[in-house]
Amino acid sequence: MQSDFQAVKIRIHAGRFFVSLFLSQEMDQIQLLDKTFVPYLTEAEIQATVKSLAARINFDYAGQEVVFLSILNGSFMFTSDLMKHITLPCEISFIKVSSYVGTQTSGRVDELIGLTDSLRDKHVLVVEDIVDTGITMDKILTLLRKQQTASLEVCSILFKKIAFQGKHAPKYYGYEIPDKFVVGYGLDYLQHGRNLPAIYQLKTEK
Ligand code: IMP
Ligand code: MG
Repeated sequence: MQSDFQAVKIRIHAGRFFVSLFLSQEMDQIQLLDKTFVPYLTEAEIQATVKSLAARINFDYAGQEVVFLSILNGSFMFTSDLMKHITLPCEISFIKVSSYVGTQTSGRVDELIGLTDSLRDKHVLVVEDIVDTGITMDKILTLLRKQQTASLEVCSILFKKIAFQGKHAPKYYGYEIPDKFVVGYGLDYLQHGRNLPAIYQLKTEK
């Protein structure tokens, strides 16, 4: 009697285990608006990579003061994690790039919003979430070069090298990724998914 009861209990536990395993695998998928995303880089992997990027930066800039220029919105999470491991004397500024149609000219004008202090003769490291085609970064660097910095480099967590058409590849990057759309860790799909601590890839239909 007793052993029958125990066998039933074991079966119930085993059943629960498989149901929860199934559910957790299902839950690994993320639904953002009309799109489904699947896991790509875990939080632990990202954290380890961010730590090693910071170690390289600490080594390369030893003895120098650095201005970290974080490009909003996408790089808020990466910047926050990276800076916790930076041991150099440093400043951190957050900027945005905006494009607008100038009133006097018909062309598009790019400007950096939030840059208040001069960067002249400073070592500047631009922190970005992803360099994809590189067009955005080329614009940012063109604007920053006018400031006559002592040095100017880019650090991004992701680099879509295969899609890259820009002039300036990031000196520091966490991962080279294929030309697939990703979200999480600051990156968004229509402003959603930035809060996810891991990185997810768009699910391709089979
Ligand atoms: P780029 O000018 O093509 O290098 O990309 C500029 C911006 O597009 C990046 O800073 C991101 O904000 C966004 N972006 C590019 N690829 C992705 C992606 O896979 N997921 C989310 N945002 C992306
Ligand atoms: Mg961005």
